[in-house]
Amino acid sequence: MRLSGFLLALQALLVHSAALRRDSLTTAAREKCQTTLQCPPGTIVVSSTAHPLSNFTTLQSAINALPSDNSSQTILILSGSYHEQVNITRAGPITLLGEQPDAAALTDPARNTVNLTWAAANSDSTGAIDNVYFSVMIVAPTLDASLTGSGTTGYPVPADTPFGNTDFRVYNIDFRNTYTEYSDGPAHAISFSRSNGGFYYCGFYSYQDTIYIGKLGSAYMHSSILAGQTDFLYGFGTLYVQSSQILLRSCGGGITAWKGTNTTFVNNYGVYIHDSTVRAANTSIAADIEGACALGRPWNSLHRSIFANTYEDGSIEPSGYINWEDRWTANQTLMAEYKASGPGFNLTGREDSEVSVLLNTKGYERYSSPERVFQGNVGWIDWEIADS
Ligand SMILES: *[C@@H]1O[C@H](CO)[C@@H](O)[C@H](O)[C@H]1NC(C)=O
Ligand SMILES: *[C@@H]1O[C@H](CO)[C@@H](O)[C@H](O)[C@H]1NC(C)=O
Ligand SMILES: *[C@@H]1O[C@H](CO)[C@@H](O)[C@H](O)[C@H]1NC(C)=O
Ligand SMILES: *[C@@H]1O[C@H](CO)[C@@H](O)[C@H](O)[C@H]1NC(C)=O
Ligand SMILES: *[C@@H]1O[C@H](CO)[C@@H](O)[C@H](O)[C@H]1NC(C)=O
Ligand SMILES: *[C@@H]1O[C@H](CO)[C@@H](O)[C@H](O)[C@H]1NC(C)=O
Ligand SMILES: *[C@@H]1O[C@H](CO)[C@@H](O)[C@H](O)[C@H]1NC(C)=O
Ligand SMILES: *[C@@H]1O[C@H](CO)[C@@H](O)[C@H](O)[C@H]1NC(C)=O
Repeated sequence: MRLSGFLLALQALLVHSAALRRDSLTTAAREKCQTTLQCPPGTIVVSSTAHPLSNFTTLQSAINALPSDNSSQTILILSGSYHEQVNITRAGPITLLGEQPDAAALTDPARNTVNLTWAAANSDSTGAIDNVYFSVMIVAPTLDASLTGSGTTGYPVPADTPFGNTDFRVYNIDFRNTYTEYSDGPAHAISFSRSNGGFYYCGFYSYQDTIYIGKLGSAYMHSSILAGQTDFLYGFGTLYVQSSQILLRSCGGGITAWKGTNTTFVNNYGVYIHDSTVRAANTSIAADIEGACALGRPWNSLHRSIFANTYEDGSIEPSGYINWEDRWTANQTLMAEYKASGPGFNLTGREDSEVSVLLNTKGYERYSSPERVFQGNVGWIDWEIADS
């Protein structure tokens, strides 16, 4: 083994053992809790209907009852639909579990039985009302930290704003913004800022701006469903998507619409999609959007996105990415693919495009793992799933 390889392996080991220091659930304990309701002591149970184990009828009331300290807290949500807007400011580790009927359902987000729903979209075009108020779930330490703001650089979050949740984990929960069946203004399923969070076997459903990862937000999504129409993966932070399904419910803008921030340190703000699939949500919509959806467009010139080792169905337009009001800037914007495949990958179209980039292995390397993308800050990722 070369020395650099050895050091990387050592670093990975140290990073992984840091993850184990948190008194987190083992996979076996978590799965038992989700399928048999036999959970570790201290687990809080939320149920929308009367149930002998239930402590709260809404998730927000359970969140509000958590101690303001750094203890790890687990909340199990029983099957059902919860129509509520949830706002989480707590810094200490939180794990949210959705009840599932059997072991096979645990790894299939299409079979999730817990819905968190809210129905609202931002129809104000003046920028006076912020997108955050329309989200199903908000994770951020303060209101300031969660504001999208307007324009290409967004809301100027005050420098003395504290960090939010250090270790947020969610398993088998669907976040659905059900306002309309088409894009009608920003309608977040989740708004996640100044926090670290992992989402496993989850579903995120809306049409416009479904997933917002705000400033200093670091999010990892594994084996999840990300559904939308317009700019539905967007934000200023960092999103790493692994082994997931991106579902096109129509086209508009791009799948990704990232905005970067100039910093004095090297940052990796952006969205990185690995070993996933991009497909029309169903066969009737597939016929309507053939060759029409863009992989992304630059919200500002520091947009950074990569579809790596990802299958693209025929919905993707020949150029791949598109420009947006000439915000694309040579050597600043990165709108890339690496070893993409499928009928949506048109090599001639990509080569003809001014804005789409095909990375080689060397160009991709920097973004090829969570350790690299999050620059070592990965103790909050569930490595039992991420390594599998
Ligand atoms: C939740 O409810 C169960 C059943 O009533 C009870 O045993 C447990 O102490 C409650 N837990 C909390 C944190 O209130
Ligand atoms: C939680 O941990 C942070 C450091 O990680 C520390 O600054 C803070 O004081 C702790 N909060 C409490 C309530 O113990
Ligand atoms: C969750 O929402 C979906 C889509 O509306 C619906 O098909 C499903 O039945 C809902 N699940 C529950 C448990 O209400
Ligand atoms: C979330 O809760 C915090 C603390 O109560 C509050 O300051 C903030 O305004 C809330 N966020 C939203 C979007 O309502
Ligand atoms: C297909 O997906 C679109 C977009 O979500 C939806 O409006 C339509 O109802 C779906 N059609 C079927 C047959 O499920
Ligand atoms: C970042 O810096 C570059 C080079 O100075 C500048 O062209 C660009 O507009 C800046 N972008 C943002 C979003 O601040
Ligand atoms: C972008 O970078 C390439 C390679 O370093 C260089 O040749 C080119 O001039 C740069 N373009 C601009 C517009 O700065
Ligand atoms: C691929 O892209 C080229 C250039 O845009 C276009 O002429 C061609 O029709 C596309 N092929 C398919 C199968 O869409």
